[in-house]
Amino acid sequence: MSSSFRGGRELGALAESPRLFGRDRELALIGDLFEHIGAGGRSLLIRGEAGIGKSALLGEARSRADELGMPVLSTSGAPFETHMPFAGLQRLLRPLAHAIGALPERQREALAVAFGGSEGPAPDIFLIGLAALDILADRAGEAPLVLLVEDAHWLDIATCDVLAFIARRVELEPIIVLCAARDGPASHVDEAGLPELRLEPLDDASANALLATHAPELTPDIRQRVLVEAGGNPLALLELPRALDATSGVVSPAAPLPITERLERTFTGRVSELPPLTRLLLVAALDESADLHEIRPTLGPHAAEGSQDPKEVHVLHPQAHRLNPLRFLSEHGGN
Ligand SMILES: Nc1ncnc2c1ncn2[C@@H]1O[C@H](COP(=O)(O)OP(=O)(O)OP(=O)(O)O)[C@@H](O)[C@H]1O
Ligand SMILES: [Mg+2]
Repeated sequence: MSSSFRGGRELGALAESPRLFGRDRELALIGDLFEHIGAGGRSLLIRGEAGIGKSALLGEARSRADELGMPVLSTSGAPFETHMPFAGLQRLLRPLAHAIGALPERQREALAVAFGGSEGPAPDIFLIGLAALDILADRAGEAPLVLLVEDAHWLDIATCDVLAFIARRVELEPIIVLCAARDGPASHVDEAGLPELRLEPLDDASANALLATHAPELTPDIRQRVLVEAGGNPLALLELPRALDATSGVVSPAAPLPITERLERTFTGRVSELPPLTRLLLVAALDESADLHEIRPTLGPHAAEGSQDPKEVHVLHPQAHRLNPLRFLSEHGGN
């Protein structure tokens, strides 16, 4: 049996709503960093599962900086740059490249090697840290500065070391460092020792308000199903109604709700970083009918290696049961 998921549009849903639901505490905490920048900078690593709203918070911080006329420098980790030393730092400092020439000679040379401008032995991280801090502090002398680091779980280790160096010294400079990292397998940024802000799922009232604003047409029973299946994850709350939109307007009460490609891609985004055996266990968890003896050879000769730490499985959202288990078998997972 199928039922329609569309009900009447609720008038209240059109009322003005906040841009971010249920993040007052987090926004206040970030607002505090801006307010007290005169007393010194601070750093924060925003952590949480895929789609929980880390980038949305960084976006709010960027808007705040724009409002206050504070310059923003940004960089981002990327899976294909994780093993390229200083790739993330190079991106962060690119707009200030002109300032490199004014550095003391040893720092200038170290940065030139780090960024591939000249040849030499692997540069001393301490010198690079000093050089980066000098350039940033100099810029922050003109106006307080905001550094935004997206997807820090994919940053290269050298950049993480330099970020840790900077973050431990920003209290003496008007510099705010905000990083965002997705839960999942261990990454270099875990070692940076940055103070953390963990993003939890939205509470029921906020999840309801988000849905009422973005998908006011849902019938009460479908809205309830979306709320349960999304588990307070904002991306799921936004995407599940979109997936329903793409159906012909009906949904079986017995089957799980359909999902969008974006949702699937996001929730499987770090699967390829899991050890083969963990991926195998995921398949088993997702597909009761899977024959592990048949699947194992497809994972290659190292399938028995690697950690099976169940904590690594929190890379996935509770919605994982609706993902296609075959995606976890490919070397490239959901990337
Ligand atoms: N509190 C919120 N209220 C309304 N919309 C939100 C909220 N948090 C996030 N969103 C929206 O949900 C979507 C996912 O959020 P976002 O991209 O910030 O997640 P993320 O944690 O950065 O995910 P990823 O780990 O994939 O980088 C975005 O469209 C964002 O605008
Ligand atoms: Mg993000």
